[in-house]
Amino acid sequence: MNHPQLILIVDFGAQYTQLIARRVREAHVYCEVIPFTSTLEDIASKHPVGIILSGGPASVLDEDAPRVDPGIYALGVPVLGICYGMQLTAHLLGGTVRRASQREYGPVPVRFDTSCPLFAELPEESVCWMSHTYHVTTSPEGFISTARSENCAFCAMADEKRRLYAVQFHPEVTHTQYGRQLLTNFLTRICGCTGDWTMSAFIDLSVQAIRKKVGEKDHVLLGLSGGVDSSVAAALIARAIGSRLTCVYVDHGFMRKDETEMVREVFTGLFPVHLVIADARERFLEKLKGVRDPEEKRKRIGAEFVACFADEARRLENVRFLAQGTIYPDVIESGSVKGSAVIKSHHNVGGLPDDVAARFTGGLVEPLRMLFKDEVRSLGEALGLPQELVWRQPFPGPGLAIRIMGEVTAEKLEVVRASDAILREEIAAAGLARSVSQYFTVLTDTLSVGVMGDERTRENVLALRAVTTDDFMTVDWARLPWEVLSRISERIVNEVPHVNRIVYDITTKPPATVEWE
Ligand code: XMP
Repeated sequence: MNHPQLILIVDFGAQYTQLIARRVREAHVYCEVIPFTSTLEDIASKHPVGIILSGGPASVLDEDAPRVDPGIYALGVPVLGICYGMQLTAHLLGGTVRRASQREYGPVPVRFDTSCPLFAELPEESVCWMSHTYHVTTSPEGFISTARSENCAFCAMADEKRRLYAVQFHPEVTHTQYGRQLLTNFLTRICGCTGDWTMSAFIDLSVQAIRKKVGEKDHVLLGLSGGVDSSVAAALIARAIGSRLTCVYVDHGFMRKDETEMVREVFTGLFPVHLVIADARERFLEKLKGVRDPEEKRKRIGAEFVACFADEARRLENVRFLAQGTIYPDVIESGSVKGSAVIKSHHNVGGLPDDVAARFTGGLVEPLRMLFKDEVRSLGEALGLPQELVWRQPFPGPGLAIRIMGEVTAEKLEVVRASDAILREEIAAAGLARSVSQYFTVLTDTLSVGVMGDERTRENVLALRAVTTDDFMTVDWARLPWEVLSRISERIVNEVPHVNRIVYDITTKPPATVEWE
């Protein structure tokens, strides 16, 4: 299989850069985001079929504004500048950029020259999303204005001969009416992309790449958490090297009902690997004895997790590679693109001890590094992983331990696990499993008075949490139908011992978080 046609997106620090990448991938074209500091040689050596220059917060008129090597415009590859990318194009090629008399922000009606291939099949006028303070006032030689608004003569410009295009607005956001069409026009009509980037193509390429990297004899170790990313990574690597993949699953005892069993079934049945399930349930409970503080819980669970994983790793021979289910947003956020070191604080496994890390002389295998979450799910489906696994809702590394307010005990774990299972069953039965982003139960560490038969009871208050969100940065509480809430409540108080009251959490994030701890 040939290497896919590649679009490079040069990142100038815009909040929307990832969105551009998503839109390109949604058009079935492969793309990568690279930092603006990449050299012309880096860029040329990747043989892109098109280049997109992103937006960014800087002003091109500043001394230290981020730039690209102007040689990029002479590679013979089509370029599309977006917002800052347009201003930079104008600035570097001899046009002028000025501060606008007022900042333009929000939806603006724009008139297009529809003879430009970028605007093919667009109506002559439509609404575009603007967000800028500077604009182009004269275009560089060879360029003409191809779109205008009431305030701006250069909402877009093009030099068709050199296949250089630029737009002042943001085609990647949904507020721009024909944004998708415009990006697709750039990809297909201008760059000649055939839109054949599919998951089965990705599987073929990855399998070849993994085999090449790992060779004929060596083994790979992967920490399987039961989550989507590590499971999909395991399945893909298993496709490439079978049981030369060892998966270590640390059972800390904070998993949901039946999850450990599912991992066992999938990775001994559908995708047979060398599976090691480390039963560390006692070990973890011991570490959490008397601990009430949420951060302390996380710290101890994280440290114990690494210790268990390391113990298992030390027992293995020939294992020269470490595999991880790192996905693209992790790569972008952790700074390899933006250059800022924002490591996700709540992510679970810290560094491995030196003696263990030293064993991985072959390095890392990270086959999902270039995929977004929804692509990871499509890949999971294309590989044939079970739906429950592929569509599993997010689950925190410390698991049910942070859904028990205060000290964690085996008895309390049973209460959250059993109630969570009922909640999940009822949400699935109501057909809501895909529309609610995350849902779970929380043992609140509060006792309430109730009555059962003639007896007064004093038992636990259990909270239900169900949220909807796109990104988990801000969330809304899910408007679950009353009947569904009612059934869940009834079933839990009837079927789960030590619960006599159910409350529903109706706070958004912010100010609350998704989890209670
Ligand atoms: P919060 O509670 O921060 O949750 O609003 C946002 C998302 O992150 C998950 N979460 C965690 N994930 N380790 C994880 O791997 C953690 O310690 C952790 N804490 C919260 C949470 O379930 C939600 O999806």
